Amino acid sequence: MSDDLLFDDLSRKIESKVDSKLISKSHRGGLKDGFKKGKVINEVLDKPTVMTLYRMITDHVIAYVNGAISAGKESVVFWGVDENNMDVALKIYLISTSNFKKREPYILGDPRFSNVKKGTKNLVYLWAKKEFRNLTQCYDAGLPVPRPLYLVKNVLVLEFIGRNGVPCKSLLYSEVNKKDYVQAVSFIKDLYNKTKLVHGDFSEYNIFKTENGLVVFDLGSGVDLRHPNAKEFLKRDIYNITKFFNKRGVSVSDPDELFEEIIK
Ligand SMILES: Nc1ncnc2c1ncn2[C@@H]1O[C@H](COP(=O)(O)OP(=O)(O)O)[C@@H](O)[C@H]1O
Ligand SMILES: [Mg+2]
Repeated sequence: MSDDLLFDDLSRKIESKVDSKLISKSHRGGLKDGFKKGKVINEVLDKPTVMTLYRMITDHVIAYVNGAISAGKESVVFWGVDENNMDVALKIYLISTSNFKKREPYILGDPRFSNVKKGTKNLVYLWAKKEFRNLTQCYDAGLPVPRPLYLVKNVLVLEFIGRNGVPCKSLLYSEVNKKDYVQAVSFIKDLYNKTKLVHGDFSEYNIFKTENGLVVFDLGSGVDLRHPNAKEFLKRDIYNITKFFNKRGVSVSDPDELFEEIIK
C-alpha cells in the first residue's frame, strides 16, 4: 500500500473512533505523563498530533490534557490545563486530507493565503493557522472571541470559555432575547468594518452566551473581505442568525436591508 493510501486508511480508522471514544470525560487529577490515562487521546488522535501534544507538554505550553469536550468530524476539542492551573481549550484539527477538500474554497481566494497552491496536502495546518489568525485579528480589535493563546501545528490553544472544564452554553441551548440579537448583529458589523472579515459559519452553534454577553468562536471559515465570495458568505451569515432569532420569537430586521447597510 502506498503511503497516501495507508495514511487515508489510518485517518478513516481514527475518524470512525472519534465519536464513540470521545464521549467519556475524565476529571481533573494528578498525572505522570501529562495524559489522563492516555487512552482516549491515543485512540482518537493521529500519531503526529499525539507527538505535537507531547511536545507542547515538554515545552510547558500546557501542563496536561484533562478531558474531552467535543468531537466533530474534522476537529476535536479537549480541555487542557496550563502550568498556572488555568483551563484552556485545545482545538485540534484532525489530520485527514479527505475532509479538507470542501475547505479549499475558504482558503484559496483569501489574499492572506494567496501563495497556497491548489491541491496542497496539508491544508489542515493552514486551516488551523487561518482560525488562529482570524481570532487574533478579532481579539486585537476588541471583539468578543476566546483569546487565542498558542498555535502549534494543528493544535490551537484558546482561552477556556466556561467553568471547570464545562463550556458555556451556546445560543442554541440558551434563552435568547432582543439584546442577544442586537449583539450578534453588531458582531457581524464590527467583524466587517474593524477586522475586514466575514465569519462564514455564523450560527447559534458557534456563539456562547456568557454572563458578560455573547462570545463568538469557530472562526476557521472566516475570510478576508477581498475573498471573491465574501459577500455571499456575509449574506448567509446574516440569513442564518436572522432565521434563528426569528424562530425564537425575537423581532428581527429585514436581512437584505441589514446586508445592504453593512456593505455600504
Ligand atoms: N474556547 C473554548 N472554550 C470552551 N469550549 C470550547 C471552546 N472552543 C470550543 N469549545 C467547545 O467545543 C465545541 C466545538 O468547537 P468549534 O470551534 O465550534 O469546533 P467545530 O469546528 O467542531 O464546530 C464547542 O461547541 C464548545 O462546546
Ligand atoms: Mg462549531
